[in-house]
Amino acid sequence: MHHQWLLLAACFWVIFMFMVASKFITLTFKDPDAYSAKQEFLFLTTTPDESKLSEEKHFPEELKPTGKTPSDSRLVQPLVYMERLALIRNVCRDEALRNLSHTSVSKFVLDRIFVCDKHKILFCQTPKVGNTQWKKVLIVLNGAFPSIEEIPENVVHDHEKNGLPRLSSFSDAEIQKRLKTYFKFFIVRDPFERLISAFKDKFVHNPRFEPWYRHEIAPGIIRKYRRNRTETRGIQFEDFVRYLGDPNRRWLDLQFGDHIIHWMTFVELCAPCEITYSVVGHHETLEDDAPYILKEAGIDHLVSYPTIPPGITVYNKTKVEHYFLGISKRDIRRLYARFEGDFKLFGYQKPDFLLN
Ligand SMILES: *[C@@H]1O[C@H](CO)[C@@H](O)[C@H](O)[C@H]1NC(C)=O
Ligand SMILES: *[C@@H]1O[C@H](CO)[C@@H](O)[C@H](O)[C@H]1NC(C)=O
Ligand SMILES: *[C@@H]1O[C@H](CO)[C@@H](O)[C@H](O)[C@H]1NC(C)=O
Repeated sequence: MHHQWLLLAACFWVIFMFMVASKFITLTFKDPDAYSAKQEFLFLTTTPDESKLSEEKHFPEELKPTGKTPSDSRLVQPLVYMERLALIRNVCRDEALRNLSHTSVSKFVLDRIFVCDKHKILFCQTPKVGNTQWKKVLIVLNGAFPSIEEIPENVVHDHEKNGLPRLSSFSDAEIQKRLKTYFKFFIVRDPFERLISAFKDKFVHNPRFEPWYRHEIAPGIIRKYRRNRTETRGIQFEDFVRYLGDPNRRWLDLQFGDHIIHWMTFVELCAPCEITYSVVGHHETLEDDAPYILKEAGIDHLVSYPTIPPGITVYNKTKVEHYFLGISKRDIRRLYARFEGDFKLFGYQKPDFLLN
């Protein structure tokens, strides 16, 4: 066991060195026209190189639990993102979770992925995790609008007008080429908190006037899943949980069509075991992850992520407990059984406080 950890640490160390090296190579070749003399090249690379070297000196200490201090967190950042990708690779290999971690790269998945050819970026949309903001960033990059503020709200999701094509609109060869060479990312969030957010946004408040959720989908769920037949209130979170945890809910899903993207698993939406994503952002750390993604995608000098209101990305256990209060353990366990792949792949802790 001890040896395995050492080996893992060594692997990360090598990967990190490689990243540092590749950074510095891209930096050298980024804008060759602007720096004609070789000396200037060297000068340009030595400055960041030195700072990187001093980071490297601290680095082995970061791997020891005691070496982790808040002031050094900036230095470990790349490691966090590498660890996320390594975890995904590991969970994808776990045969016991195969059905919960794998999916085919179908038209449904390709419909979820948006393309920015100009900057070679693919973004897989995962509703309820700040995706509107990312779409706005890409719309601006694609050039349909000069700034995020100038995009009318009704155009963001109108793919006729926003100049943000879906990957499914390309030919097979063009799709493969983009999947192989582009920067690819998506954002995840605690799976249960995301379901609460979807429930509130679609069935309780629905700020975007989508009457079909309350008038077609909710009655369909209540008809099949309401436990107490004399209860006449509108859809409750309990009905929603019972629907989602039912392994035989597929016929209902088919009736609901694409609206179910708001509560499908991240696996079903983005195929993380089939597509090798470059970065997986976490909603809970979006304040760090958004700038990191922009930087890694090479667009941080062109656009910035809209200001994130303070506190909204923090995981709220009180809220989760409140929503699941009174729902039977059996129903919550069935729900977890369906979303276990998302919990494991993206490193979210199993919510034992709800399950036991
Ligand atoms: C995975 O799904 C297949 C087909 O639906 C099924 O036959 C198999 O038993 C499942 N495997 C596990 C580990 O649940
Ligand atoms: C079922 O719902 C009705 C109406 O809200 C309520 O009066 C009754 O106590 C509920 N029964 C159970 C078993 O929860
Ligand atoms: C967490 O959620 C509860 C219930 O929805 C709310 O009252 C509370 O303010 C939230 N806490 C934070 C830190 O946002």
